[in-house]
Amino acid sequence: MMNAQVSDQASVRFSATRRAMHWLTVLLLVGSFALVWAVDWLPPGQSRAQIVGLHRTIGLLVLSLTLLRLLWSLVSRRPPRITAPRWPWAAGLVQALLLASMLAIPLLGWTHTNARGHAVVLFGQHLPSLIFKDQYFSRVAIGTHEFLAYALLALIGLHVAAALWHHLVLRDATLKRMWRG
Ligand code: HEM
Ligand code: HEM
Repeated sequence: MMNAQVSDQASVRFSATRRAMHWLTVLLLVGSFALVWAVDWLPPGQSRAQIVGLHRTIGLLVLSLTLLRLLWSLVSRRPPRITAPRWPWAAGLVQALLLASMLAIPLLGWTHTNARGHAVVLFGQHLPSLIFKDQYFSRVAIGTHEFLAYALLALIGLHVAAALWHHLVLRDATLKRMWRG
């Protein structure tokens, strides 16, 4: 049934943990894209390397948070949807692809850095190498990294459009409960 308003029931509320992880991911992704785009405006050199380094750190935090979200969903069941979806598979598919991209993109960035012969360092700790030094793999990894990053932007566009559709057209509490619980 469309538009069944069941938002008052405690059983459909999103926990603070789920909401915090969602909005922290959004902030980190904004930071990650903003930094890597800012690099194009800087002359090659030390500051450029530092910005790319910060991009790597934020990207690794996205990877960690996504793994944490997946673990969290094993222990905490996701409350049911507020409005019975018109295309039940569509929201699930977009959300699954969002999560998959947030695993694949950082892992490809990591692979690229190792294949160029550099270590990936997170807060002073050298992370294990995912691949040997190889110029070809390094190029393939960064090409796929960038392609998937732009595909992720398109998915985010669909996801945000769906959230706004629920809020402005269906006028249900889908967005409110992600914001306020
Ligand atoms: C979800 C997380 C990430 C997103 C959304 C992301 C996104 C991007 C984008 C859009 C670009 C290319 C921008 C352009 O020039 O068009 C890029 C470049 C790059 N990314 Fe990521 N990235 C993420 C994580 C990582 C991680 C974890 C690493 C490494 C450990 C990494 C390493 C790099 C490197 C080395 C470049 C090339 C930068 C340059 O020299 O111009 N990225 N990333
Ligand atoms: C920018 C990157 C974003 C990513 C990667 C992302 C990812 C996700 C994922 C994976 C879920 C499902 C898992 C969960 O329940 O936590 C989700 C749910 C949700 N997101 Fe996002 N999101 C993003 C931005 C946004 C924005 C900007 C909005 C609001 C305009 C939004 C609104 C929602 C809502 C309302 C839900 C719950 C949908 C439902 O009840 O089925 N998201 N998001």
